[in-house]
Amino acid sequence: MTIRSKSIVAIVLTFTCILVTLFMICRFLLLNNLIAIETQNTRQDVERIEKTIGYITTNLAHATADWAYWDDTYNFIQNKDPSYIETNLVESTFTDLELNLILFIDKDGIAVYSKAFDLDLKKEIQVPSEVWTQISEGNTLIKSASSTSETSGFLLVDGFPPILLVSLPILTSDDTGPSQGTLIFGRFFDAKNLDQLSNITSVSISLTTYKDFTSRNGYASINFSAKNENEIIIKPINDDTITGYTVIHDVYKNAGLVLGIELPRSIYHEGQKSITYILISISSVCVVFGLIAVIEAEKQGLSRLKRLANTVERIANSGKISGRISTVGKDEISSLGANINRMLASMQRSEDAISERAEHLQVAVVEAQLANQAKTEFLSGVSHELRTPLTAIIGMAQLLQKKYYGVLNEKQSEYVQDILESSSHLLSLINDVLDLAKIEAGKTKLEMDQYSIRELIGSSVLIVKENAVKKGLHLTVEIAEEILNQNVVVDKRRFRQIMINLMSNSIKFTEPGGKVVVTAAIKRGVLEVGIADTGIGISPEEQEKIFDAFYQVYSGTTGKSPGTGLGLSLAKRLVEQHDGKIWVESEGIGKGSCFSFTISLNLAKQVSEGSEKKALGE
Ligand SMILES: Nc1ncnc2c1ncn2[C@@H]1O[C@H](COP(=O)(O)OP(=O)(O)O)[C@@H](O)[C@H]1O
Ligand SMILES: [Mg+2]
Repeated sequence: MTIRSKSIVAIVLTFTCILVTLFMICRFLLLNNLIAIETQNTRQDVERIEKTIGYITTNLAHATADWAYWDDTYNFIQNKDPSYIETNLVESTFTDLELNLILFIDKDGIAVYSKAFDLDLKKEIQVPSEVWTQISEGNTLIKSASSTSETSGFLLVDGFPPILLVSLPILTSDDTGPSQGTLIFGRFFDAKNLDQLSNITSVSISLTTYKDFTSRNGYASINFSAKNENEIIIKPINDDTITGYTVIHDVYKNAGLVLGIELPRSIYHEGQKSITYILISISSVCVVFGLIAVIEAEKQGLSRLKRLANTVERIANSGKISGRISTVGKDEISSLGANINRMLASMQRSEDAISERAEHLQVAVVEAQLANQAKTEFLSGVSHELRTPLTAIIGMAQLLQKKYYGVLNEKQSEYVQDILESSSHLLSLINDVLDLAKIEAGKTKLEMDQYSIRELIGSSVLIVKENAVKKGLHLTVEIAEEILNQNVVVDKRRFRQIMINLMSNSIKFTEPGGKVVVTAAIKRGVLEVGIADTGIGISPEEQEKIFDAFYQVYSGTTGKSPGTGLGLSLAKRLVEQHDGKIWVESEGIGKGSCFSFTISLNLAKQVSEGSEKKALGE
């Protein structure tokens, strides 16, 4: 995924997260608060309607009291004077007071007067028989002689709307007793009354019997148990309507009716609308800012980064570090570009320097080759020029020493001896220098052949044996049993040269009475030859240098016959020509030394295979 798509995804994700979070906050916090307010409002409305019904009841009670606490009524209930009925209980009494039922009951519980009236049809109707049954059985509505209290509430009679009743004891106008009976006024609480109430309170109201309500389908979940009969239950029935219910007790204090109201869910709707508006505006803001963020990121970074990456890729693919990146502005990307440019420039400088150095090196190599060639030519020329007169000098000196041309006096023979020694040393030095020069020039060709290890070592030892014996040294040879009869492929003359160089060093640097031991064995698959002595030893620092040409350790070598300092370096070159290694071990000054070298045995196989092939006539 490119940084570009990653950034765009990150921006989109961020804004989506912000949106979702805000939606959650609006949805759950705001809406829940609105639902709480709505519930509270509905509850207050239910309470308001309940209070209004209570107020209607109080009004009816006042009207009833006007009649019950009146001397005319007090007399009428005792003497049952029909003129009271004729003058007072006329049609207008029912219509003015909006009464549907008037009952006068004397102190013996016998109805003195009872009348039911239909206010719509404006005519008398029969008093429902169940009203009588309930009143006479109920025992709360009929007042005793001593009673002064009011009883009010709904009476529920089958086939009739709930009847709002007020029952008062009949007393004199100055509210004194004893009560001579009971006056009951009743009003049917029918659909018309409910409509009126709905109009006054602007709430849609319903009044259902408790029995009907609890058995009605869909309201099973709203059950007023004995405990919460006084509770107000609020329930939204759908997104548009919320309902509230409470129990209204009947005149006998039983759960008789359920008052219900239905309200439009305007708060909830407004809330939802507001949330939608908020979300739409936030979404638009998010989209706009998201777009701005994407465009800005694209303009400020992403497109430039892509351009930078493309340029770097082009430079990398072309391999031309002379290319440069354009750097505009003053930010991280332009400084990155500038740094890349600086890097390219420094790479170019290094490349230039490298190619310049390569040219120099080439010239130097050619010069060195020429110089080497000149050196070799010079050395072989010089050595030839030197060797001829030197051979003559040595020959002459030998003749003088051997006294062919007369006897020499003491001084003369001493000088002749000096001439002989010096010129022999010079000759060996010239020979060594020539050998080394030839090897370095790659001009020596080894003459490889198979030789018995025992014979090779034996013949080499034989050459130095006499010197060792003369010096009073014990020279011994130890060849491992298993290689006594084994052959090795070497250049015989060179192998002997290595052996002689090492052995004569040991003899030279070991005091009389000391020991020189030559060993040979197969170790780690190669022939390893060792020359160990009990001589003056070599310090660790010197061990590293003694294989260099012309290097000699001065301390401890005084009094030894002069060397050239070329013996070990020649031996090393010769061993390496045989694919071997040479090294020295010494525990330090005075502790003896052991020089070892290896010769590869693979050469023997190659040679033997070659000779077998030759034998087969290939
Ligand atoms: N067996 C040895 N014991 C102690 N020192 C040695 C031994 N062999 C070589 N060296 C030291 O290494 C030096 C270099 O040896 P070499 O190259 O043979 O030169 P040269 O024998 O002509 O001095 C010697 O001068 C000597 O100091
Ligand atoms: Mg030597």
